[in-house]
Amino acid sequence: MEGVYVDTSAICYIDGKGGKLYYRGYDVEELPERSSYEEVVYLLWYGRLPKKKELEEFKKNLAKNRFLPGEVLELMDKLPKSVHPMGALRTIISYLGNLDGEPSLSTGDVYQKGISVTAKMPTIIANLWRTKNGLDYVEPKTELGHAANFLYMLRGEEPTLREEKSLDVALILYAEHEINASAFTVMTVGSTLSDYYSAVVAGIGALKGPLHGGAVEEALNQFIEVGSPERAEEWFWETLRSGKRIMGAGHRVYKTYDPRARIFKNYARELGNPRLFEVAERIEELVETHLAEKGVHVNVDYWAGIVFHALGIPPELYTTVFAMGRIAGWTAHLAEYLTHNRLIRPRLKYVGEIGKRYVPIEERE
Ligand SMILES: CC(C)(COP(=O)(O)OP(=O)(O)OC[C@H]1O[C@@H](n2cnc3c(N)ncnc32)[C@H](O)[C@@H]1OP(=O)(O)O)[C@@H](O)C(=O)NCCC(=O)NCCS
Repeated sequence: MEGVYVDTSAICYIDGKGGKLYYRGYDVEELPERSSYEEVVYLLWYGRLPKKKELEEFKKNLAKNRFLPGEVLELMDKLPKSVHPMGALRTIISYLGNLDGEPSLSTGDVYQKGISVTAKMPTIIANLWRTKNGLDYVEPKTELGHAANFLYMLRGEEPTLREEKSLDVALILYAEHEINASAFTVMTVGSTLSDYYSAVVAGIGALKGPLHGGAVEEALNQFIEVGSPERAEEWFWETLRSGKRIMGAGHRVYKTYDPRARIFKNYARELGNPRLFEVAERIEELVETHLAEKGVHVNVDYWAGIVFHALGIPPELYTTVFAMGRIAGWTAHLAEYLTHNRLIRPRLKYVGEIGKRYVPIEERE
C-alpha cells in the first residue's frame, strides 16, 4: 500500500521530502521544549491546545487512572519470566478489556477508555519489569507527571528534572505518526466495530515487530555489539554484505533525515554513554554517505535507545516505552475514523488458477 491514501485525517502531517512533522498543525520540533506529553495527548485527541484549567483536569484524570486492579497484578505474577515485555503488555491490556466488560465502541467510549489505558500503561510496563526481576510492586504517585511517574515506578526513586524532561520529550516524539503499520491495524480492527482493547492489542502486536517499533531495541543492541567507533566501518559493510539492515535507518515516508531523530540526537549527545554515542555517530556518517542515495537516513529509533539507556531503562522495555507514547496516536486515529466509519476491506489481486477439477484423495498419486 506504499503511497496509498486510505482516508483523510486532520491529526498529523508528515512531509517526507522536507523532513517535517506536524501534530494538528503544530511543528513537532517546537513541541518538546514548550509542551508536555499530557498536553500533546490532549491536542491529538481534541484537536486544539487545552486551556490551563482543561489541562489541569486532564492531568488529574490521567493520574487517578494509573492504579491497576488486583487481578492484573496477580496475572503479572503468573506470566512466564521468558516472555518479551511487548508480549506481556499485549496480554495485560487484553485482560483489562476482559475486566472492563463493556465491549461497545463509540467515539465517546474511545476517549474514556483511552484515558484509562494511557494512564495504566506506565504502571503496567514498570511493574512487569519489576515482577520479572523479583522486585516489589511500586504504586504510582499521583503528584508526579506521566513521564516522571514511570521512571519513579521503574527505578524506585524519583528522577531528576532533566531525566523527567528527556522521557517526556521521547513520549511526545513517539506520540503519533500518521497511518503507520500499527495505527492502520488499530483502525482496521476498530472499523469492524470490535472494541477499544482489541484494537489496541492488535496495535501492540504490529508495533512489536523489528521493522516497526522493535527497531529501537535492536538499534541500541547493534551499537553495543559494535563496541568501538574503529569497528564501525567493518561492521557496516559486513552487515550490508550479509543482506541485513542497519536498525534505526530507513523509512517508508521520510526520504530525508527524520526530524525526530535530530531532537533525540541532541539528548543522546547530552545524556548518553559517550562511547555508544561515538559508535552511533560513526555508523550514522556511513549511512549518510553510502545509503542516502537510496533515501535511507537514520530514523526516530536510531538515537532513542541511547537516551533510554541513559535513563536506566532496560533495552527489552524500549518498544513498550514507544507503545506508551503511541497509545495517544492510536486512540486519536480510532476516534477520528469512527466519526465516519466504514469497514476497511481492501482487495488482493488474484494470480492463482481457477476452474480446477477436484480429484478424490484415492486418485491423487
Ligand atoms: C523501515 C523499513 C522497513 C522501510 O522499508 P521500505 O520502505 O520497504 O524500503 P525498501 O525495503 O524498499 O528499501 C529501499 C532500499 O533501501 C535499502 N534499505 C532500506 N532500509 C535499510 C536499512 N535500514 N539498512 C540498509 N539498507 C536499507 C533496501 O535494502 C533497499 O535497497 P535496494 O533498492 O538496493 O534493494 C526499512 O528501511 C528497514 O527495514 N529499516 C530497518 C528497521 C527500522 O529501523 N525500522 C523502524 C522504522 S521507523
